[in-house]
Amino acid sequence: MRILVIHGPNLNMLGERETETYGTVDLETIDATLKAMAEKEGVEVECVQSNHEGEIAERIQKAKGAFDAIILNPAAFTHTSVTIRDAVAAAGVPTIEVHLSNVYAREAFRHHSYVAPVAVGQITGFGAQSYTLALRAALDLSGK
Ligand code: DQA
Repeated sequence: MRILVIHGPNLNMLGERETETYGTVDLETIDATLKAMAEKEGVEVECVQSNHEGEIAERIQKAKGAFDAIILNPAAFTHTSVTIRDAVAAAGVPTIEVHLSNVYAREAFRHHSYVAPVAVGQITGFGAQSYTLALRAALDLSGK
């Protein structure tokens, strides 16, 4: 089983960026935690980060046939991107939408997600733990 983790724009700045909202755990730590958890379960995890909408769409497209699930934090593109929504729908790879912060407890513009309707589900508000919960969900989806 192979799982692709995609972190969207500005998440490369985790740990130093708006720490009161996103916490102090950096992206390298999140990725290392996911890889350690995956290794225990005997599955492979690949993690990528991009600040570019088109690059994220391409990664999602290429996941078709190559990955069994996608864990996707589209970050700001969640609220703006029909491109990423359509890529998720086109690829047809079961996708779990993740957010560190509880987007529903924040500004109104964060309450709408273009991705949510084409995702299997959404995990939001658990900080870095949102990702490990998502990995658990991905493992469960595939019967692991
Ligand atoms: C985020 C929430 C988004 O609204 C925001 O634009 C982000 C991060 C989160 O993980 O909480 O960049 O996706």
